[in-house]
Amino acid sequence: MIAPTAQLGEALRLFGEPTRLRILGLLELSELSVGELARALGMQQSRVSNHLRLLRDAHLLQERHEGRTTFLRLDVPEDATEDLVARLWSTLRAEIPTLPEFAADVARLHQVIAERRARSRDFFDRVAGEWEKIGVDFATGQARQRAAANLFARPLVLADLGCGTGYLASGLAGLCSKLVCVDSSSAMLEEARKKLEPMPPGTELELRRGDLDELPIADGELDGCVAGMVLHHLEDPATAVREMRRVLKPGSNAVVLELAPHREEWMRDEQGDRHLGLDPSDVRTAFERAGFVDARIEAVEDRYQPKRRHASAPAEEPALALYIVRGRVPSGG
Ligand SMILES: C[S@@+](CC[C@H](N)C(=O)[O-])C[C@H]1O[C@@H](n2cnc3c(N)ncnc32)[C@H](O)[C@@H]1O
Repeated sequence: MIAPTAQLGEALRLFGEPTRLRILGLLELSELSVGELARALGMQQSRVSNHLRLLRDAHLLQERHEGRTTFLRLDVPEDATEDLVARLWSTLRAEIPTLPEFAADVARLHQVIAERRARSRDFFDRVAGEWEKIGVDFATGQARQRAAANLFARPLVLADLGCGTGYLASGLAGLCSKLVCVDSSSAMLEEARKKLEPMPPGTELELRRGDLDELPIADGELDGCVAGMVLHHLEDPATAVREMRRVLKPGSNAVVLELAPHREEWMRDEQGDRHLGLDPSDVRTAFERAGFVDARIEAVEDRYQPKRRHASAPAEEPALALYIVRGRVPSGG
Protein backbone atom coordinates (compact mmCIF):
# COMPACT_ATOMS: atom_id res chain seq x y z
CA MET A 1 0.00 0.00 0.00
CA ILE A 2 1.44 3.35 -1.05
CA ALA A 3 1.41 6.08 1.60
CA PRO A 4 -0.97 8.99 0.79
CA THR A 5 1.86 11.49 0.23
CA ALA A 6 3.66 9.14 -2.12
CA GLN A 7 0.38 8.61 -3.92
CA LEU A 8 -0.10 12.37 -4.30
CA GLY A 9 3.45 12.83 -5.56
CA GLU A 10 2.95 10.09 -8.11
CA ALA A 11 -0.34 11.60 -9.30
CA LEU A 12 1.20 15.06 -9.60
CA ARG A 13 4.12 13.61 -11.61
CA LEU A 14 1.62 11.90 -13.89
CA PHE A 15 -0.23 15.13 -14.64
CA GLY A 16 2.92 17.29 -14.48
CA GLU A 17 3.91 16.35 -18.03
CA PRO A 18 1.90 18.46 -20.57
CA THR A 19 2.05 15.74 -23.25
CA ARG A 20 0.03 13.44 -21.01
CA LEU A 21 -2.57 16.16 -20.45
CA ARG A 22 -2.77 16.72 -24.23
CA ILE A 23 -3.26 12.96 -24.73
CA LEU A 24 -6.06 12.89 -22.18
CA GLY A 25 -7.64 16.01 -23.75
CA LEU A 26 -7.62 14.41 -27.22
CA LEU A 27 -8.93 11.06 -26.01
CA GLU A 28 -11.73 12.86 -24.23
CA LEU A 29 -12.80 14.22 -27.63
CA SER A 30 -12.52 11.01 -29.63
CA GLU A 31 -11.56 7.37 -29.54
CA LEU A 32 -8.30 7.05 -31.49
CA SER A 33 -5.88 4.37 -32.55
CA VAL A 34 -2.35 4.80 -31.23
CA GLY A 35 -1.18 5.89 -34.70
CA GLU A 36 -4.00 8.43 -35.02
CA LEU A 37 -3.23 9.80 -31.56
CA ALA A 38 0.45 10.25 -32.49
CA ARG A 39 -0.58 12.10 -35.68
CA ALA A 40 -2.95 14.36 -33.74
CA LEU A 41 -0.10 15.18 -31.35
CA GLY A 42 2.31 15.71 -34.24
CA MET A 43 4.74 13.20 -32.69
CA GLN A 44 6.40 9.90 -33.51
CA GLN A 45 4.44 6.91 -32.18
CA SER A 46 7.52 5.78 -30.20
CA ARG A 47 7.44 9.04 -28.22
CA VAL A 48 3.79 8.54 -27.28
CA SER A 49 4.04 4.93 -26.09
CA ASN A 50 5.74 5.63 -22.77
CA HIS A 51 3.11 8.25 -21.84
CA LEU A 52 0.37 5.81 -22.73
CA ARG A 53 1.87 3.15 -20.49
CA LEU A 54 1.81 5.50 -17.49
CA LEU A 55 -1.77 6.62 -18.21
CA ARG A 56 -2.82 3.00 -18.63
CA ASP A 57 -1.21 2.08 -15.29
CA ALA A 58 -3.15 4.94 -13.68
CA HIS A 59 -6.39 3.39 -15.05
CA LEU A 60 -7.24 6.46 -17.11
CA LEU A 61 -7.51 4.67 -20.46
CA GLN A 62 -9.72 2.02 -21.93
CA GLU A 63 -8.43 -0.10 -24.79
CA ARG A 64 -10.40 -1.75 -27.55
CA HIS A 65 -8.65 -4.24 -29.82
CA GLU A 66 -9.74 -4.73 -33.42
CA GLY A 67 -7.50 -7.09 -35.35
CA ARG A 68 -4.02 -5.67 -34.91
CA THR A 69 -5.20 -2.15 -34.11
CA THR A 70 -5.65 -0.87 -30.58
CA PHE A 71 -8.10 1.96 -30.03
CA LEU A 72 -7.90 4.11 -26.93
CA ARG A 73 -10.34 6.29 -25.12
CA LEU A 74 -10.47 8.12 -21.85
CA ASP A 75 -11.94 6.09 -19.04
CA VAL A 76 -12.28 8.03 -15.82
CA PRO A 77 -14.70 6.83 -13.12
CA GLU A 78 -17.86 8.95 -12.98
CA ASP A 79 -17.58 9.20 -9.24
CA ALA A 80 -14.16 10.80 -8.70
CA THR A 81 -14.41 11.08 -4.90
CA GLU A 82 -12.85 7.66 -4.23
CA ASP A 83 -9.90 7.94 -6.59
CA LEU A 84 -7.15 10.56 -6.22
CA VAL A 85 -6.09 10.47 -9.89
CA ALA A 86 -9.68 10.80 -11.06
CA ARG A 87 -10.26 13.61 -8.58
CA LEU A 88 -7.27 15.56 -9.87
CA TRP A 89 -8.29 14.96 -13.48
CA SER A 90 -11.81 16.29 -12.85
CA THR A 91 -10.19 19.59 -11.83
CA LEU A 92 -7.49 19.65 -14.51
CA ARG A 93 -9.64 18.78 -17.51
CA ALA A 94 -11.16 22.27 -17.63
CA GLU A 95 -7.62 23.68 -18.02
CA ILE A 96 -6.62 21.53 -21.01
CA PRO A 97 -7.79 24.08 -23.64
CA THR A 98 -5.41 26.63 -22.11
CA LEU A 99 -2.35 24.48 -22.97
CA PRO A 100 -0.48 26.31 -25.76
CA GLU A 101 -0.28 23.20 -28.01
CA PHE A 102 -3.87 22.09 -27.60
CA ALA A 103 -5.50 24.22 -30.34
CA ALA A 104 -3.08 22.73 -32.89
CA ASP A 105 -3.75 19.24 -31.45
CA VAL A 106 -7.48 19.68 -32.01
CA ALA A 107 -6.95 20.98 -35.55
CA ARG A 108 -4.80 17.89 -36.33
CA LEU A 109 -7.41 15.66 -34.66
CA HIS A 110 -10.09 17.00 -37.03
CA GLN A 111 -7.73 16.33 -39.93
CA VAL A 112 -7.16 12.74 -38.73
CA ILE A 113 -10.92 12.13 -38.43
CA ALA A 114 -11.59 13.72 -41.85
CA GLU A 115 -8.90 11.47 -43.39
CA ARG A 116 -10.43 8.41 -41.68
CA ARG A 117 -13.81 9.19 -43.32
CA ALA A 118 -12.23 10.06 -46.66
CA ARG A 119 -10.36 6.73 -46.65
CA SER A 120 -13.62 4.82 -46.39
CA ARG A 121 -15.38 7.06 -48.95
CA ASP A 122 -12.47 6.90 -51.41
CA PHE A 123 -12.32 3.13 -51.00
CA PHE A 124 -15.99 2.72 -51.92
CA ASP A 125 -15.69 5.25 -54.74
CA ARG A 126 -12.90 3.08 -56.13
CA VAL A 127 -14.65 -0.29 -55.82
CA ALA A 128 -18.30 0.67 -56.51
CA GLY A 129 -18.24 -0.80 -60.02
CA GLU A 130 -16.71 -4.05 -58.78
CA TRP A 131 -18.50 -4.29 -55.43
CA GLU A 132 -21.00 -6.96 -56.45
CA LYS A 133 -18.06 -9.21 -57.43
CA ILE A 134 -16.00 -8.59 -54.29
CA GLY A 135 -17.94 -11.18 -52.31
CA VAL A 136 -20.94 -9.61 -50.66
CA ASP A 137 -22.99 -12.81 -50.72
CA PHE A 138 -24.15 -14.32 -47.47
CA ALA A 139 -24.54 -18.07 -47.07
CA THR A 140 -28.30 -18.10 -47.69
CA GLY A 141 -28.65 -14.68 -49.29
CA GLN A 142 -31.42 -13.79 -46.83
CA ALA A 143 -29.64 -11.75 -44.18
CA ARG A 144 -30.45 -8.39 -45.75
CA GLN A 145 -34.10 -9.28 -46.31
CA ARG A 146 -34.34 -10.33 -42.66
CA ALA A 147 -32.77 -7.09 -41.58
CA ALA A 148 -35.23 -5.10 -43.71
CA ALA A 149 -38.11 -7.14 -42.28
CA ASN A 150 -37.43 -5.53 -38.91
CA LEU A 151 -38.90 -2.31 -40.31
CA PHE A 152 -42.33 -3.88 -40.26
CA ALA A 153 -44.48 -4.66 -37.28
CA ARG A 154 -44.92 -8.39 -36.81
CA PRO A 155 -46.79 -10.63 -37.18
CA LEU A 156 -47.67 -9.40 -40.64
CA VAL A 157 -49.82 -11.40 -43.04
CA LEU A 158 -49.57 -10.34 -46.69
CA ALA A 159 -51.13 -11.82 -49.80
CA ASP A 160 -50.39 -11.90 -53.51
CA LEU A 161 -53.75 -12.39 -55.23
CA GLY A 162 -53.58 -13.99 -58.68
CA CYS A 163 -49.93 -14.69 -57.88
CA GLY A 164 -49.13 -16.57 -61.09
CA THR A 165 -45.51 -17.71 -60.89
CA GLY A 166 -44.93 -15.63 -57.74
CA TYR A 167 -43.29 -12.63 -59.37
CA LEU A 168 -44.72 -10.09 -56.92
CA ALA A 169 -44.70 -12.52 -54.00
CA SER A 170 -40.93 -12.95 -54.27
CA GLY A 171 -40.53 -9.29 -53.28
CA LEU A 172 -42.74 -9.82 -50.22
CA ALA A 173 -41.06 -12.98 -48.90
CA GLY A 174 -39.08 -12.14 -45.80
CA LEU A 175 -41.03 -8.96 -45.12
CA CYS A 176 -43.91 -10.72 -43.39
CA SER A 177 -44.52 -13.61 -41.05
CA LYS A 178 -47.01 -15.22 -43.42
CA LEU A 179 -47.30 -14.87 -47.18
CA VAL A 180 -50.54 -16.12 -48.71
CA CYS A 181 -50.46 -16.73 -52.46
CA VAL A 182 -53.80 -17.21 -54.17
CA ASP A 183 -54.36 -18.36 -57.73
CA SER A 184 -57.12 -20.30 -59.51
CA SER A 185 -54.53 -22.35 -61.39
CA SER A 186 -52.82 -25.13 -59.43
CA ALA A 187 -50.09 -25.30 -62.10
CA MET A 188 -49.33 -21.62 -61.52
CA LEU A 189 -49.25 -22.21 -57.76
CA GLU A 190 -46.75 -25.01 -58.33
CA GLU A 191 -44.54 -22.64 -60.33
CA ALA A 192 -44.85 -20.10 -57.52
CA ARG A 193 -43.78 -22.71 -54.99
CA LYS A 194 -40.67 -23.50 -57.08
CA LYS A 195 -39.78 -19.83 -57.24
CA LEU A 196 -40.49 -18.97 -53.60
CA GLU A 197 -39.14 -21.97 -51.69
CA PRO A 198 -37.17 -22.08 -49.54
CA MET A 199 -38.73 -19.10 -47.80
CA PRO A 200 -36.58 -16.84 -45.63
CA PRO A 201 -36.61 -17.96 -41.98
CA GLY A 202 -39.51 -16.34 -40.18
CA THR A 203 -41.87 -16.27 -43.16
CA GLU A 204 -44.42 -19.02 -43.69
CA LEU A 205 -45.68 -19.58 -47.23
CA GLU A 206 -49.29 -20.64 -47.85
CA LEU A 207 -50.42 -21.43 -51.36
CA ARG A 208 -54.21 -21.39 -51.65
CA ARG A 209 -56.07 -22.33 -54.76
CA GLY A 210 -59.14 -20.20 -55.22
CA ASP A 211 -60.93 -17.48 -57.05
CA LEU A 212 -60.48 -13.76 -56.64
CA ASP A 213 -64.22 -13.18 -56.51
CA GLU A 214 -64.52 -15.61 -53.61
CA LEU A 215 -61.16 -15.42 -51.87
CA PRO A 216 -60.10 -18.42 -49.76
CA ILE A 217 -59.15 -15.99 -47.00
CA ALA A 218 -60.97 -15.20 -43.73
CA ASP A 219 -62.49 -11.79 -42.96
CA GLY A 220 -59.79 -9.39 -41.76
CA GLU A 221 -57.00 -12.00 -42.04
CA LEU A 222 -54.59 -9.79 -44.02
CA ASP A 223 -52.39 -6.81 -43.24
CA GLY A 224 -52.01 -6.01 -46.92
CA CYS A 225 -52.55 -7.46 -50.37
CA VAL A 226 -51.46 -6.96 -53.95
CA ALA A 227 -53.18 -8.06 -57.13
CA GLY A 228 -50.83 -7.66 -60.07
CA MET A 229 -52.02 -7.93 -63.68
CA VAL A 230 -54.97 -10.09 -62.73
CA LEU A 231 -58.13 -7.95 -62.56
CA HIS A 232 -58.32 -7.78 -66.37
CA HIS A 233 -58.67 -11.57 -66.36
CA LEU A 234 -61.87 -11.43 -64.31
CA GLU A 235 -65.47 -11.25 -65.39
CA ASP A 236 -66.24 -8.62 -62.77
CA PRO A 237 -63.17 -6.87 -61.29
CA ALA A 238 -65.35 -4.93 -58.80
CA THR A 239 -66.32 -8.17 -57.02
CA ALA A 240 -62.61 -8.97 -56.49
CA VAL A 241 -62.03 -5.46 -55.07
CA ARG A 242 -64.91 -6.00 -52.60
CA GLU A 243 -63.33 -9.31 -51.61
CA MET A 244 -60.00 -7.55 -50.96
CA ARG A 245 -61.78 -5.13 -48.67
CA ARG A 246 -63.38 -8.04 -46.78
CA VAL A 247 -60.12 -9.89 -46.11
CA LEU A 248 -58.09 -6.85 -44.96
CA LYS A 249 -57.67 -5.62 -41.41
CA PRO A 250 -58.69 -2.06 -40.51
CA GLY A 251 -56.01 0.43 -41.55
CA SER A 252 -54.34 -1.89 -44.08
CA ASN A 253 -53.75 -1.36 -47.81
CA ALA A 254 -54.70 -3.01 -51.07
CA VAL A 255 -52.65 -2.39 -54.21
CA VAL A 256 -53.62 -3.26 -57.75
CA LEU A 257 -51.25 -3.18 -60.73
CA GLU A 258 -53.14 -3.06 -63.99
CA LEU A 259 -52.95 -2.58 -67.73
CA ALA A 260 -54.39 0.63 -69.14
CA PRO A 261 -57.03 0.13 -71.88
CA HIS A 262 -55.45 -1.03 -75.19
CA ARG A 263 -56.49 -2.44 -78.55
CA GLU A 264 -54.46 -5.66 -78.71
CA GLU A 265 -57.37 -7.98 -79.51
CA TRP A 266 -54.97 -10.93 -80.01
CA MET A 267 -54.15 -10.86 -76.29
CA ARG A 268 -57.50 -12.45 -75.46
CA ASP A 269 -56.24 -15.74 -76.97
CA GLU A 270 -52.53 -15.33 -76.49
CA GLN A 271 -52.56 -14.00 -72.91
CA GLY A 272 -55.93 -15.25 -71.64
CA ASP A 273 -57.18 -11.67 -71.15
CA ARG A 274 -60.89 -11.06 -70.66
CA HIS A 275 -60.67 -7.26 -70.80
CA LEU A 276 -58.31 -5.29 -73.03
CA GLY A 277 -56.97 -3.39 -70.03
CA LEU A 278 -59.12 -1.57 -67.49
CA ASP A 279 -59.89 2.10 -67.14
CA PRO A 280 -57.99 3.35 -64.05
CA SER A 281 -60.87 5.51 -62.92
CA ASP A 282 -63.20 2.47 -63.04
CA VAL A 283 -60.80 0.59 -60.75
CA ARG A 284 -60.58 3.55 -58.39
CA THR A 285 -64.40 3.76 -58.33
CA ALA A 286 -64.50 0.04 -57.49
CA PHE A 287 -62.16 0.77 -54.57
CA GLU A 288 -64.34 3.63 -53.32
CA ARG A 289 -67.55 1.61 -53.64
CA ALA A 290 -65.98 -1.29 -51.77
CA GLY A 291 -65.35 1.04 -48.82
CA PHE A 292 -61.65 1.85 -49.29
CA VAL A 293 -60.52 5.36 -48.41
CA ASP A 294 -57.70 7.42 -49.98
CA ALA A 295 -58.19 5.50 -53.23
CA ARG A 296 -55.56 6.78 -55.65
CA ILE A 297 -54.27 6.16 -59.13
CA GLU A 298 -50.51 6.23 -59.62
CA ALA A 299 -48.82 6.40 -62.98
CA VAL A 300 -46.11 3.81 -63.66
CA GLU A 301 -43.22 4.49 -66.01
CA ASP A 302 -42.66 0.84 -66.91
CA ARG A 303 -44.45 -0.62 -69.88
CA TYR A 304 -45.74 -4.18 -70.20
CA GLN A 305 -44.32 -5.85 -73.26
CA PRO A 306 -46.37 -8.97 -74.04
CA LYS A 307 -44.41 -11.60 -75.96
CA ARG A 308 -45.80 -12.62 -79.33
CA ARG A 309 -46.07 -16.41 -79.54
CA HIS A 310 -48.19 -17.05 -82.64
CA ALA A 311 -48.46 -15.70 -86.15
CA SER A 312 -51.90 -14.28 -85.30
CA ALA A 313 -50.21 -11.79 -82.97
CA PRO A 314 -48.83 -8.63 -84.59
CA ALA A 315 -45.16 -8.76 -85.58
CA GLU A 316 -44.59 -5.55 -83.69
CA GLU A 317 -44.78 -6.25 -79.94
CA PRO A 318 -46.70 -3.47 -78.24
CA ALA A 319 -45.52 -1.69 -75.09
CA LEU A 320 -48.64 -1.26 -72.97
CA ALA A 321 -49.17 1.36 -70.29
CA LEU A 322 -49.49 0.26 -66.66
CA TYR A 323 -50.88 1.97 -63.57
CA ILE A 324 -51.39 1.32 -59.89
CA VAL A 325 -54.49 1.86 -57.81
CA ARG A 326 -54.26 1.71 -54.06
CA GLY A 327 -56.65 2.20 -51.22
CA ARG A 328 -56.80 1.85 -47.45
CA VAL A 329 -59.37 0.20 -45.25
CA PRO A 330 -60.58 2.83 -42.75
CA SER A 331 -58.93 2.42 -39.35
CA GLY A 332 -62.28 1.96 -37.67
CA GLY A 333 -62.84 -1.20 -39.76
C1 LIG B 1 -51.00 -12.45 -65.82
S1 LIG B 1 -50.88 -13.53 -64.47
C2 LIG B 1 -50.24 -12.42 -63.29
C3 LIG B 1 -49.35 -13.09 -62.31
C4 LIG B 1 -48.67 -12.20 -61.29
N1 LIG B 1 -49.59 -11.55 -60.40
C5 LIG B 1 -47.74 -11.20 -61.91
O1 LIG B 1 -47.89 -9.99 -61.66
O2 LIG B 1 -46.83 -11.61 -62.64
C6 LIG B 1 -52.54 -13.74 -63.98
C7 LIG B 1 -52.75 -14.82 -62.96
O3 LIG B 1 -54.06 -14.69 -62.45
C8 LIG B 1 -54.63 -15.96 -62.28
N2 LIG B 1 -56.09 -15.84 -62.35
C9 LIG B 1 -56.83 -15.55 -63.43
N3 LIG B 1 -58.11 -15.48 -63.09
C10 LIG B 1 -58.20 -15.74 -61.77
C11 LIG B 1 -59.26 -15.82 -60.84
N4 LIG B 1 -60.50 -15.61 -61.21
N5 LIG B 1 -58.98 -16.09 -59.58
C12 LIG B 1 -57.69 -16.30 -59.17
N6 LIG B 1 -56.65 -16.24 -60.02
C13 LIG B 1 -56.89 -15.96 -61.30
C14 LIG B 1 -54.02 -16.78 -63.41
O4 LIG B 1 -54.06 -18.17 -63.12
C15 LIG B 1 -52.63 -16.22 -63.50
O5 LIG B 1 -51.76 -16.95 -62.70
